[in-house]
This record gives sequence, C-alpha cells and structure tokens, in this order.
Amino acid sequence: MPIIASNFKTNHTRKSTNDFISSINEYLKSNDIKSEVYVFPTATSLNDFDTVKNLTVGTQNAYYTEKGSFTGEIGTQQLDEFGIKTILIGHSERRHILGESQEEIAKKYEFYKALGYTIIYCIGEPLEVKESGLENTLEYIYEQFVGIDTNYENLILAYEPVWAIGTGVTATNDDIKNVHTAIKEKIDKPLLYGGSVKVNNVREICEIPNVDGALIGTASWIKEDFIQIIDNTK
Ligand code: G3H
Repeated sequence: MPIIASNFKTNHTRKSTNDFISSINEYLKSNDIKSEVYVFPTATSLNDFDTVKNLTVGTQNAYYTEKGSFTGEIGTQQLDEFGIKTILIGHSERRHILGESQEEIAKKYEFYKALGYTIIYCIGEPLEVKESGLENTLEYIYEQFVGIDTNYENLILAYEPVWAIGTGVTATNDDIKNVHTAIKEKIDKPLLYGGSVKVNNVREICEIPNVDGALIGTASWIKEDFIQIIDNTK
C-alpha cells in the first residue's frame, strides 16, 4: 500500500487548508483507495480535524518540548490540542535553509519517538555530493542517521535529493532505485521518494523497487492535482 504525503511548506491559508483537507477526506471516503494519505499543513493552519478519518494530518515541524520559552516554536501542548501525532523531521529545507544541525534533529527525533509519534524522517544529498558518485551519496546520507534510532516502529523514511526538491528535476529511476535499495538493505522501514514528484510521474516512481510512496510538495498544493496523484497510485 503506497504512502502518499503532501507537504504544504509555507503555502495555503487556514481556510484553504480546511477546504483541501475536507475535500481529500471526502474523496478518500467515497473511493476505493488503497494508499495511506498524509497532509502536512503549516502550523498556523493546524486545527481540530476531528471529522477527518480517512487521512492523517501531521505537523511540518515542532520543537522538542511540551511548552516553554522557545520563541516562534510550537510544542506538544499545542499539537495535543489538535490531536496531531505525526511529524516531519530532518526535511532538507530545515537542514539547509533554517540551519538545523544533525544534533538538533536527533534531539527532536528522540523526543517525538519517546512520545510514540509517527515520524517521517527525511534524508538526501545536495547536488555536489550526487555528482561525486553513489558511494559518496550514500556516505552523506548515512551521516544523516547519526543519533537516530531507526529501530522504531512508527518510523517512515523519505529520500529527498536536495537538487530535486522544487526544481522540476526528478531523480532518474536508476538514481532512485540505487539509493533506495542501499538504504533498505540497512534500514527496513517504509521509504518514500520526494523531489519533483508530479501527477504524471508518480505512478512510475511508486513502481520502482524499494519505493513505498511519495512525499510531495509543489505538485500536491492544488487539491484536484493531489486527488489525481492519489488516484494514479491506487
Ligand atoms: O516535502 C516535499 C519535498 O520537499 C518535495 O518538494 O515536490 O516541490 O519537489 P517538491
């Protein structure tokens, strides 16, 4: 059963998020879809999605705290209010734009693991590493597992090459297969691919050996397109 996840990043308002999530929920309720669907709205659009039973809503980020003095952050007191139990950790935009270190990421991972959250843990290499070959790419990726206990039942991995994120350049099927197969040999967890997944390539990508689904940004932000993506992988 493929896992299909939409990451809104810094897009959508509260109103359009509610509309998006209820439309996807309705679609999943009335169609025979085998995929497991996740949506990650921005923190300000998290809500009490009580009536949403057919997909999982998660947070793109949160701090490793219940509450406290961490300006600009949210903690589990806020997530609990909305019944959120799923989190993205290690996304490349948090690593490379927001400057999260592996040490910070590992602390966050440990905190949310201890609380039993479903964690989608992201890894992936920048272009210069990819260009230096598969061996270096894998070495770089394995460094992103430092401090991460991968022996965790609620762990889902997402391989997202940095150079493919939001660029329109998807990794080739061979690139995806090689990296996914190597990671899977070490860590036997569901492994999603992310990076310019679109309506017209999602099926093919999900059929690559050792690909268990997709984590999608840009192409998932219009609800009709996301429905088409889900439909293409059923
Ligand atoms: O979390 C999603 C990924 O960063 C992929 O984004 O589909 O816009 O390339 P993208």
